[in-house]
Amino acid sequence: MTYETTQTDGIKLMMDEHQLILRVLTVMRTACLNLLKTGEYTDSDFRQMIEFVRNFADAHHHGKEEKLLFNRMTEELGPAAEKLVTHGMLVEHDLGRLYIRQLEDALNRIKDDESAVLDIIANAVGYTDLLKRHIDKEDRVAYTFAERHLREETKIEIDKACEAFELEQSEKGIQRRYNEMVKGLEAKYL
Ligand SMILES: [Fe+2]
Ligand SMILES: [Fe+2]
Repeated sequence: MTYETTQTDGIKLMMDEHQLILRVLTVMRTACLNLLKTGEYTDSDFRQMIEFVRNFADAHHHGKEEKLLFNRMTEELGPAAEKLVTHGMLVEHDLGRLYIRQLEDALNRIKDDESAVLDIIANAVGYTDLLKRHIDKEDRVAYTFAERHLREETKIEIDKACEAFELEQSEKGIQRRYNEMVKGLEAKYL
């Protein structure tokens, strides 16, 4: 039996997105180290990192995982997938959102509360640690599990849905905007 193919390999695309996200995590950690050493930071750069995390890492990337891949895994692959996805990956996506909310809150209150600097560093570094481990687990375990065990038809449906979503997002300039943003931040921090 042969299956229709698409231009997009959804899982490969998500692995490539991990590489872009990891680059921002490196910038974030470096900005925290600079803050620790000098006592200074640039508010607008942290706001850009938050925007990247919310719009690219979360809405664009985790959005694809949650709506196009993980849902298919829990439907098709039974309790092992349920445990890995619902009690692992999704919980970590939520914890990431909490770190970023707390980071933003710390940036907002630092004028009135100098101890907020602790919360900037703690939440930003906490987020980078969480996401690095999360990405490693997806690359090595969750995606591999999906590749090996999802039905071929399902994988093709995922690829097609990813392709359509990518097109929709590129019409809004999302991928280009965040690729450029990462380059700009790296040029400044690394
Ligand atoms: Fe994820
Ligand atoms: Fe991911």
